[in-house]
Amino acid sequence: MKFLRKFVGRGTDALRSIKISPVGSSHLRPALGISTLVIFLVALAASSKVRAQNKPSASPSAKPQPIPFSHKLHAQFLRECQDCHKISGDGWTMEYPPEGKCMTCHATIKADSPAIRKLANYAARKEPVPWVQVYEVPDYVYFSHRTHTTKAKLDCEICHGPLREREVIVKEKSTSMQACIDCHKLKGAPTGCRTCHDTV
Ligand code: HEC
Ligand code: HEC
Ligand code: HEC
Ligand code: HEC
Ligand code: HEC
Repeated sequence: MKFLRKFVGRGTDALRSIKISPVGSSHLRPALGISTLVIFLVALAASSKVRAQNKPSASPSAKPQPIPFSHKLHAQFLRECQDCHKISGDGWTMEYPPEGKCMTCHATIKADSPAIRKLANYAARKEPVPWVQVYEVPDYVYFSHRTHTTKAKLDCEICHGPLREREVIVKEKSTSMQACIDCHKLKGAPTGCRTCHDTV
């Protein structure tokens, strides 16, 4: 099966790859139901749009966040990204910091500011701050932070920009299919459809 995926990976002809029937690699990945398959096939029918969507978008604007957190300010105290962001147990997701981590400082620092009061309320209720996600790929795409950071040893900045210099996060790096494939070609990583999609 590994061999088959490698073989498909070498093909550049999309149609040839699509004819390969799915093999049972899904146990390695989050369970994807039949609905995902249907959605994917609909997306496939619209695949002529891929090219258009990969055009660089106009300058992105910031999504409003529930608490105005600044990476630039906090980088003075916490240099390592992984001081705050840990890879989830399954390796797919990079977690947001637990509120208790913030409160190690903010129980005393700026405790009277409205933003920190709001933060302290979430922490007291043991509720996660509802951060609005900026970088996101659709469900039919497989993306693992563990593969890209721990295994491929890529810096966060390559895919997220120089956040130590940013007050506010905007999506300044593309997560389009073309952006993924460009780097895969550059680094010799697989580019067959089934690398990132289970149903093609
Ligand atoms: C290592 C200590 C430390 C940690 C951990 C920390 N902060 Fe801060 N934070 C600071 C300092 C210092 C300031 C600047 C205070 C000042 O302006 O005097 C600050 C400022 C802020 C402010 C601006 C407050 C205002 O009204 O000016 C917010 C909001 C904030 N932090 C949120 C967070 C959140 C959310 C977390 C957890 C993800 C966090 N901080 C973790 C030290 C920390
Ligand atoms: C003090 C804790 C802290 C540190 C250190 C920190 N972050 Fe964050 N990060 C946060 C919080 C809180 C958010 C959610 C608020 C926001 O989007 O600004 C966040 C959001 C993000 C996001 C946006 C994710 C999304 O799509 O919603 C990225 C990307 C990110 N951080 C990368 C980094 C990188 C890269 C570094 C190291 C240069 C770093 N972070 C260091 C606390 C931290
Ligand atoms: C190869 C590119 C790449 C690298 C390297 C990378 N990220 Fe991401 N990051 C992404 C993509 C793509 C998403 C959207 C993932 C999704 O929707 O499932 C994302 C999403 C996130 C999120 C939102 C939560 C999530 O996982 O969906 C955070 C937080 C984040 N990244 C932080 C980091 C930090 C911190 C590092 C370095 C330790 C890092 N990323 C390295 C591409 C990357
Ligand atoms: C900056 C370079 C870079 C970017 C951008 C990037 N990747 Fe990768 N990716 C790699 C490298 C290098 C590997 C090989 C990791 C290894 O096995 O050591 C990899 C491996 C993978 C794998 C595992 C392949 C396998 O079968 O072993 C998947 C799935 C994947 N990437 C999906 C994505 C998706 C989806 C995106 C875009 C959202 C993306 N990647 C963006 C560099 C990148
Ligand atoms: C390295 C990862 C990667 C590889 C390899 C890859 N894709 Fe994708 N694909 C993506 C990502 C990421 C998206 C979602 C882009 C976005 O956010 O709209 C996507 C989206 C799509 C879509 C939906 C586009 C739309 O119109 O919304 C189709 C169809 C698709 N891919 C087909 C393919 C086919 C066919 C192949 C093989 C020739 C392939 N993909 C190879 C990462 C990949």
